[in-house]
Amino acid sequence: MNLTEDHVVNSLRRTWQPVSNSADLPAGKVIAYTLLETRLVVTRFADGKLLAADSACPHKAADLSKGCHRNGKLMCPYHGWEFSADGNCQSIPSLLEPNAEKLALSHLVSYVIQERYGYVWVKLDNRPLADGKPHELPEVPEFENPNWTYVMGPPMTFAAGWRREVENYLDMTHFAFAHAGSLGLCADPRIRDMKITVHPDGGYQMDAPFPALETTHELQGKLQSAHHRLQRSYLPNFTTIRQTFTDGDERVLVHIPSPNTRETSTCFWSVSISPGFKGPPAEKQVEFAIGVLDEDRLMCEQQSPREIPINPGRGGWGVLVTPGDTLANTFQKQLRRWLLVQHDSPTE
Ligand code: FES
Ligand SMILES: [Fe+2]
Repeated sequence: MNLTEDHVVNSLRRTWQPVSNSADLPAGKVIAYTLLETRLVVTRFADGKLLAADSACPHKAADLSKGCHRNGKLMCPYHGWEFSADGNCQSIPSLLEPNAEKLALSHLVSYVIQERYGYVWVKLDNRPLADGKPHELPEVPEFENPNWTYVMGPPMTFAAGWRREVENYLDMTHFAFAHAGSLGLCADPRIRDMKITVHPDGGYQMDAPFPALETTHELQGKLQSAHHRLQRSYLPNFTTIRQTFTDGDERVLVHIPSPNTRETSTCFWSVSISPGFKGPPAEKQVEFAIGVLDEDRLMCEQQSPREIPINPGRGGWGVLVTPGDTLANTFQKQLRRWLLVQHDSPTE
């Protein structure tokens, strides 16, 4: 059957998606974020409570993300109505007397929100997935192990759909070209030993060597050197890479391209570095990764259309697959299976 982008949006509404790095949302800060075409206001109150809600004020639809904190509440910039962290309207300045009925009608449309791994996550639809279980974040112990150095990257906005970014992150044959001057300085575009495994949860993983060529004319940095990669993807869009270097050092990276609209996304990413890592310091590793991600962004933004068609086709997926594209193709196949199951499941 042909899937549509509506299937995609409706299914992803039931999954946790990042909307901010925790550090970018201190108490009293109010931000706007578009998640799956839904315009949100996201804020943290003085007591640490978080709120994500439709950004249109229930009164006259002014943009609450342009508001500020007043009296420990989120205040609308237009007529000064005030809202608490649970979305209750607690003050309507133009009313002479408190009116419980009006206040009750003025509740924000708010969403479940949580904080983990240094990100603020929102789920737009709190109903369970097709397997009857609510979507949970994958467990990545290295992100919470105090012996490892965990660093957050600055989120990067792509003028490209989220599936373009996932596919790019899974693709190992572009290093020698799109990253010719950085990550792929010494990379071989042929991946000889790629082992792909599909997990019962529909996620999948790849084990492969990072194909660094022996070269006499280029000096390899640690991050460009040969290593083993274990790439683990959790549907729909949470992908980790574990790199094991020849000296035993390790890094675990994650990319989560959070869908803003059907054609734009924001890539949230971070990296955890094993204790005693012999190589560039953490801040240099982040700097290097920003440069590499920007090269990927340029590639994703040049592709047309801006999102990969959800059904197989030339220029998309399922045809013209080389061995190096197998992992990206596995993503599209497994995502399609997952979407079909979500689609067939009852919605109530
Ligand atoms: S539009 Fe928000 S208080 Fe009037
Ligand atoms: Fe890349």
